[in-house]
Amino acid sequence: MGKAIVTGATSGIGRAVALLLKAAGHEVLAIGRNAAALADLAALGITPLQLDLGSAEGIAEALAGHETDILVNNAGMVSPPGNFCDMQASDILRTVATNLTSALLVSHAITPGMRARGRGHVFFTGSIAGHTPYPNMAVYAATKAALGGFAQSLRLDLSPSGVRVTEIVAGRVESPLYKDVLSLEARAAMYAGQNAVQPEDVASMVMAVLNMPPHVDVARFDILPTRQPVAALVPAAEKKQ
Ligand SMILES: NC(=O)c1ccc[n+]([C@@H]2O[C@H](COP(=O)([O-])OP(=O)(O)OC[C@H]3O[C@@H](n4cnc5c(N)ncnc54)[C@H](OP(=O)(O)O)[C@@H]3O)[C@@H](O)[C@H]2O)c1
Repeated sequence: MGKAIVTGATSGIGRAVALLLKAAGHEVLAIGRNAAALADLAALGITPLQLDLGSAEGIAEALAGHETDILVNNAGMVSPPGNFCDMQASDILRTVATNLTSALLVSHAITPGMRARGRGHVFFTGSIAGHTPYPNMAVYAATKAALGGFAQSLRLDLSPSGVRVTEIVAGRVESPLYKDVLSLEARAAMYAGQNAVQPEDVASMVMAVLNMPPHVDVARFDILPTRQPVAALVPAAEKKQ
C-alpha cells in the first residue's frame, strides 16, 4: 500500500476519504487547519499536517520531499452565497486561493515525483457548480470550473508516465461546508429529505476509482443525490445587521 495526502481532511468529504484510505492500509497525511480535528485523526493513526491553504505561503516548503502515490486535492470553502456584485473583494481572493491556487501548488509539489516514479493518482474535488451555472455562487463556480479544466489538462501531461488524474464532480453533499455562511435552519432545509450525498459515498467512489486496474483512468466522475437532477439552489446568505 502506498502513501496518500488528503487536503481538507479534517471534515466532510476529505475526512471520509482519509479514513477509507487508512482502512485500506495506506499511510495517510491529513492536511487542514483545525487542530482538534487533526488530533482526532492522529489518534486514528493518520499523520496530521496543520497548514493554511488560504495563502500560497509555505505550501511548497511543507510538502518538499514527500513521496506520495495518492494526492486528493479536496480542501475548499464557500464565501457567503449572494450576488457577485455584493461580494467583498477579500472573499473573492480567499475563495480563489483556497479552492484553486492551493490545489495547483500542492499538485506542483507532488506530481514531479509521481512522474519520475511512473505511478500515482491525483484527485480533485470539483463540483457541478463548475460545469453548470449556479446563482449566488459565481466565484465558487469559477474556481471549480478552473479546477476541472486544470485536472483534464494535467491528465494529458501526466498520462504518458502512467499517472492517473480524476476530477470528482460532486453535487450536494451533506457536510459542514456552509457552516460559516448559512444559518442552521437554512442548512437543515438544504439537506432535508435525504436530498444529499454523504461524504462516505464520495469516499467509496474514490476507493472504487483507485482500485481500477492501472490501465484504466476514470478521468471524471459525477456524484449527485438521486433527486438532484441539475444545479440545486443555494440560498443567499442573510445580510448581517
Ligand atoms: N458539500 C458539498 O455540497 C460539495 C459539493 C461539491 C463540491 N464540494 C467540495 O468538496 C470539498 C470538501 O468540502 P466538504 O463539503 O467536505 O466541506 P467541509 O466539511 O467544510 O470540508 C472542507 C475542508 O477544507 C478545509 N479547508 C478549508 N479552508 C482551508 C484552508 N484555508 N486551509 C486548509 N484547509 C482548509 C477544511 O479544513 P480546516 O477547517 O481544518 O482548515 C475542511 O477539512 C470542497 O472542495 C468543496 O468545494 C462540496
